[in-house]
Amino acid sequence: MRVIVENDYQSMSRKAALLLASQVNLKPNSVLGLATGSTPEGMYQELVEMYHRGEIDFSEVVTFNLDEYYKLPPENEESYHYYMQENFFKHVNLHPENTNIPRGMVEKVETECWYYEEKIRRAGGIDLQVLGIGSNGHIGFNEPGDRLNVTTKLVELTEETIESNSRFFDSLDKVPRKAISVGMATILKARRIILLASGKNKAEAIKKTINGYVDTRIPSSLLQTHPETTLIIDEEAASLL
Ligand code: GLP
Repeated sequence: MRVIVENDYQSMSRKAALLLASQVNLKPNSVLGLATGSTPEGMYQELVEMYHRGEIDFSEVVTFNLDEYYKLPPENEESYHYYMQENFFKHVNLHPENTNIPRGMVEKVETECWYYEEKIRRAGGIDLQVLGIGSNGHIGFNEPGDRLNVTTKLVELTEETIESNSRFFDSLDKVPRKAISVGMATILKARRIILLASGKNKAEAIKKTINGYVDTRIPSSLLQTHPETTLIIDEEAASLL
């Protein structure tokens, strides 16, 4: 596991964007795994600026997002569909048919999960996976527990995550209690992984990700088993290392 410590949020975002741009410039038809949350917003902004400067072309790129809330319509401003449109997709030349996000509104959720995995497989697997991290060490929506999902599944969110994500919703009871998330093996099969973290409230999770045992109660600790994982974190997130 490689750890890059940047001074602040902005340089973390810039570094992440540069790594992603290198991936796409080296392999224009890259398959990217994408994350949401407040952490990667700066990276998306940097990428949009690079695109406008002609430094990166997304016309052949395929993307798969990590997760989506269950039963939250895509037009809802807190859905990850909406987030991706606003923060990234609508600003660059990705073909809409090349962007994939689990569909939280489906009736047959098991079929959706199976189909999502199949689509990743048919695309040739993920070349570069971008991750954020929850303060409890979750990645995607793989929450701490005695066991973790291997593939894409409908998951129950923990109280800690619901509480933490309530900052984006009008009230706590508006936060969906379930989500569709790709599983741990789906993440660990990516050829490269970059995990971004910023701020003091991520310091404990980052310490446990790097220094601890591999433990399903800290899902991010499983990244220790992956040969090509780079953590890009700011000084605050690195403060307990
Ligand atoms: C959500 C997402 C995760 C993300 C996490 C951290 O729960 N499902 O993919 O990493 O939040 O979010 P933030 O970056 O806003 O701290």
